[in-house]
Amino acid sequence: MGKVHVLDHPLIQHKLTMIRDVNTGTKEFRELVNEVATLMAFEITRHLPLKEVTVQTPVGQATSNIIAGKKLGIVPILRAGLGMSDGVLKLIPAAKVGHIGLYRDPETLKPVEYYIKLPSDVHEREFIIVDPMLATGGSAVEAIHSLKKRGAKQIKLMCLIAAPEGVEAVQKAHDDVDIYLAGLDEKLNEKGYIIPGLGDAGDRLFGTK
Ligand code: PRP
Ligand code: URA
Repeated sequence: MGKVHVLDHPLIQHKLTMIRDVNTGTKEFRELVNEVATLMAFEITRHLPLKEVTVQTPVGQATSNIIAGKKLGIVPILRAGLGMSDGVLKLIPAAKVGHIGLYRDPETLKPVEYYIKLPSDVHEREFIIVDPMLATGGSAVEAIHSLKKRGAKQIKLMCLIAAPEGVEAVQKAHDDVDIYLAGLDEKLNEKGYIIPGLGDAGDRLFGTK
């Protein structure tokens, strides 16, 4: 079973509260989502393997650690996932970026895939899929399935807020995928929105309605 990590760092929690606030406007919302993505990336990269190297300091030689060349890939789920990818890239600037376009059909709430482009060496990379919202889980389940179909073997899912229904759906469909969240909320409403959530992440990020 994939693990669920709710990242309870005070900075993440503080910024998430501001993100939820209906009075936070587009510019600030976008900045905060980016910042939280950076902070979450710090936690999600804890496991990266290190190797020892020796460097010359101004006063001697230090045997010290660097990241041992792990190949990473970031995959935002369009559109709202784009709001998180730059924040992650701030800490992992050498990562390659794939994109997957999915939208939720407003009637059926089922995901519809309209675009996918991944790095060519998919099977060699560890991927972090980013999307602010994990609601019914349909989009994330489909995105993970799409990556696996193309050869991805190691995948993590990073979202700002999830509903229990979404977590359960991902765990059921993909028990090898760990989920990283800033908040785990109460429930979904009848329209598939996370309650209390933050509203429509794509619309708030891009100022659309
Ligand atoms: C939102 C969100 C997720 C999806 C979550 O995207 O960014 O991708 O809904 O819902 P689910 O877990 O029930 O699938 P949306 O479909 O609104 O598209 P957008 O990012 O283009 O606004
Ligand atoms: N997508 C969103 O943007 N918000 C929700 O609460 C659920 C799905």
